Amino acid sequence: MNPAMKHLPLLLLVLVACTAEPPPPPIPMGSADGLIPLPVELAVDTTRPPLQVRAVKWYLPTEWTDSLAIAPNWVFPGGEPKGAEPVDVRVERVDGLAKEGYTLSIGENIRIEASTAAGAFRGLTTLRQLAPPDCERFDRCRDGFALPQLTIADAPSYGHRGLLLDVCRHFMEVEFVEQVIDGLALHKMNTLHWHLTEDQGWRIAIDAYPRLTEVGAWRTEADGSQHGGFYTKDDIRRIVAYAAERHITVIPEIELPGHSRAALAAYPELGCTGEELPVPNDWGVFKDIYCAGDEATFAFLEQVLTEVLELFPSEYIHIGGDEAPKVRWEACAKCQNRIATEHLHDEHELQSYFIGRIGEWLAAHGRKLIGWDEILDGGLPDGATVQSWRGLDGARQAIAQGNDAILSPTSHCYLDYPLAATDMEEVYGFEPEAVSGGPGRVLGGEVNLWSEHAPQHLVESKVYPRASAFAEVMWTPPARRNFTDFLDRLDVHYDRLDGMRIDYGLETVPVVMESQIDSATGTLVAVVEPAMRGVTGIAGFVPTGQDCPSSVAEFGEPMVVEGEGEVWTEVEHRFRVLMDPPRFPVAGHVGLTAARATIGHDLNPYYPGGGERGLNDGLLGSMDFRDGRWQATSGTDMHLHLRFDAPIEIDSITVRTYRYQNAWIFDPSLIEFMWSTNGSDVWEAAEVRPPSPLAPNDEQGIARWSAAVGGRRAWAVRVTLKNPGRCPSWHDAATEPTWLFADEVVVHGRQVR
Ligand code: ACM
Ligand code: ZN
Repeated sequence: MNPAMKHLPLLLLVLVACTAEPPPPPIPMGSADGLIPLPVELAVDTTRPPLQVRAVKWYLPTEWTDSLAIAPNWVFPGGEPKGAEPVDVRVERVDGLAKEGYTLSIGENIRIEASTAAGAFRGLTTLRQLAPPDCERFDRCRDGFALPQLTIADAPSYGHRGLLLDVCRHFMEVEFVEQVIDGLALHKMNTLHWHLTEDQGWRIAIDAYPRLTEVGAWRTEADGSQHGGFYTKDDIRRIVAYAAERHITVIPEIELPGHSRAALAAYPELGCTGEELPVPNDWGVFKDIYCAGDEATFAFLEQVLTEVLELFPSEYIHIGGDEAPKVRWEACAKCQNRIATEHLHDEHELQSYFIGRIGEWLAAHGRKLIGWDEILDGGLPDGATVQSWRGLDGARQAIAQGNDAILSPTSHCYLDYPLAATDMEEVYGFEPEAVSGGPGRVLGGEVNLWSEHAPQHLVESKVYPRASAFAEVMWTPPARRNFTDFLDRLDVHYDRLDGMRIDYGLETVPVVMESQIDSATGTLVAVVEPAMRGVTGIAGFVPTGQDCPSSVAEFGEPMVVEGEGEVWTEVEHRFRVLMDPPRFPVAGHVGLTAARATIGHDLNPYYPGGGERGLNDGLLGSMDFRDGRWQATSGTDMHLHLRFDAPIEIDSITVRTYRYQNAWIFDPSLIEFMWSTNGSDVWEAAEVRPPSPLAPNDEQGIARWSAAVGGRRAWAVRVTLKNPGRCPSWHDAATEPTWLFADEVVVHGRQVR
C-alpha cells in the first residue's frame, strides 16, 4: 500500500478541519442581574436562547443622530463587536412615552422605543448595563457577548435626579468632573448641580470681574501652601457639552447672599464693611456676606449671572440662599436704609427681597430660580423652587404654597457625611414619596457631595455606592424597591464600576470595635468585627508613640489594650485594601476599674458620646468630633464622678477635650480635679486653667489637661469642666452659648494589691 494511502483518513480529517468554519470563540454572557436602577417592568424570557451579539448595526432616527451621537461607543465602551453577522440595534421614535421613558426588547434583534432622545438614551443605558461588565474595559468583549431575551418598559418616578458637586472647598479637574458625569449617566441621573462659588473659592471665570478668579479662586492653607483653581469659559462649555451628550443638565450654583467670602476677598466693596478679607481656609458659616443695601451688589450679581446664563442653557439656576448670617446687615446703614425704603420688617425680609430681586431678574431672562430652604424665610419669591436640606419641612411648605421642591435632606442625602451617620441602607431607605399633596410638585431629589473633607481623590469613594442606591430611589417606584434585591444587583454593578475605574467606597462602616472592661484589672479587651458584607482583615493595638502593634488579632478575636494608643485595622473589600481603614483610639487605664461612674450633666442628644459611662469607657474620640465618642454640653459645665471599691494609687489624671472655635467648641475655663483619700469627705484637689479659652485660636483638635497626683491613694475621683461662657464678641456666633466637648478622663496609676 502506498504509504500515503495508509494516512488517508487522517488527511481527510485535517482537510475537513481546515476548510470548515472554526467554532466561534466563547463569549461572555450578559444578564439583567445588575440593572441599577431597577426598571419598572422587566420580563426575561429564559425559554429562548440568549442573543449572540458579535457585531452591531445601528439604526438611529435621523433627528436624533446628534443627540445620540455617542451611543455606539458609549453603550459598548470596550468597542462594539465587529466582523460577524450584525445584530440590529434599532432606536425608534414613538409618541406617548414618558419624557425619559423607553421600552427595550431583545429578541433576534434589539429595539428601543422612546418619545424623546433622552428616553432613548436611558434605554441605551439599560442596554449597556445588560452587557457583561467586562465590556466596560477597553478591548474586552472584542469577540462579542450574549444578551438575555427580554422586554423592559421603564420610566423614572422623578424628573430631577441629581448630584451636587462642590468644587469650591476642593477644586476638581475638568477630566474628573467628566468622570463624575459618566457615573451619573450610568445611573440614569440627569442633573449635575455644580456648586461653583463659595467662601473658600470662586471657580468660574467672569470676564467683567477678573479678580474673582485671580484672587477669589486661591486660598493659602494653614501650612502656607496654596489651594485653588477655576474653570475657564472653554472648560465650562466643554463640561456642559459633555453632560448634554449624556442627557444630563448642569445647573450652576452661584451662592448669594452668603457663602460669598471669596467674592468679597476679590471685591471687598461688595460687603457691608468694605473690609479686606482673605479667602478663608477654614470651614463654617461666615458673617461677611454681600451687602443688600448697595445697588452695586445687584449690578455685580446681574453681570455675573449674565455671563453664567451665556454658558449654561439650564432652565434652572441655583442661587444658594442658605446660611446667611444677618449681623452685618443689622449694623449696615445701607442695608437698614433698604429695609426702611422697601418697608421691610427685618433682615429676614431683606433676604427675601434680595432673593426675590434675583429671581425676577432670572425670570426676565427666561430662567427659574432654585434656592436652599432658607429662601422660605421672610417670604418665598414667586415661582422659586425650594431645595429642602434641613429635613423635609421646607419642601412641604413650598408645595403647600404652590411652589416646587427638590429633596436633599441631611438625614439621607449628604454623601459628605461619614458612613457612620448615613450609610447606603439609609440612603436606600429614603422615601421621597413622603412629601406629597399641595399644589406644588416634588421635582425629585439630589445627593450632595460637599467637599470640605473630600479632595478630588476621595470624592468617588464617598459618592458610590450610596449614589447608586439614591439613583434607584429616584427612579424605581417604591413597590419595586427592595434592599436585599438591590444588594444582589450591586454585586454585579461593582464589576461594572471596576471596569469604569470608578473608585467606589463602602456601603457602611466596614468594622466595629466592641470593648469590654475587665474591672478586676482595668484592662480593656477590644474585639474588632466586620460590619459589612464581604469585608475581611486583621486588627492590632498600637501603643501611642510606637509604630508597631503590641498585639494583633483576627477579626472576632479579643485583644488586650494596656495604656493609651489606637486599635488599627487592615480591611479588604473586593480585592482592594482600604486606603484609610478605621482606627479606634483607646486607653486602658486604672480609672476603668471604678465600680461606679456618674456624670453630673445632661447628655446632649446629638453628642451623647457613650452615655453615662462614656467619659470612663476607655474609648477615645478621634479628630472628627461627630464620631460618637465625644460627649458634649452647650452652655453648661461637665462633671464626672468615679467611685472605687478598693483604693487605687494615682500618678496623674488627664481629661481630653476638643477645641474647634468655628463650630463654637471652646476650651473649658477651668478644670477641677479632686480625689478622695477616704472615699467620702476627705478630698484633695488640683486645678488647671487653660490660658485665654475665649481668645481666637485657629488650632482645631484634641487638648489634654492633666493634674499630677503623686501616687496618692484614692477611693474616688471627681473632675469638673467649667464652661467658659458665651461666644465672645469677635466670634461669628457672638453671644451664643459655647460648647464643651470631652471624651475621657484617663486615670494613670495602678490598683493597690
Ligand atoms: C447646605 O448644606 N448648607 C445647603
Ligand atoms: Zn450692607
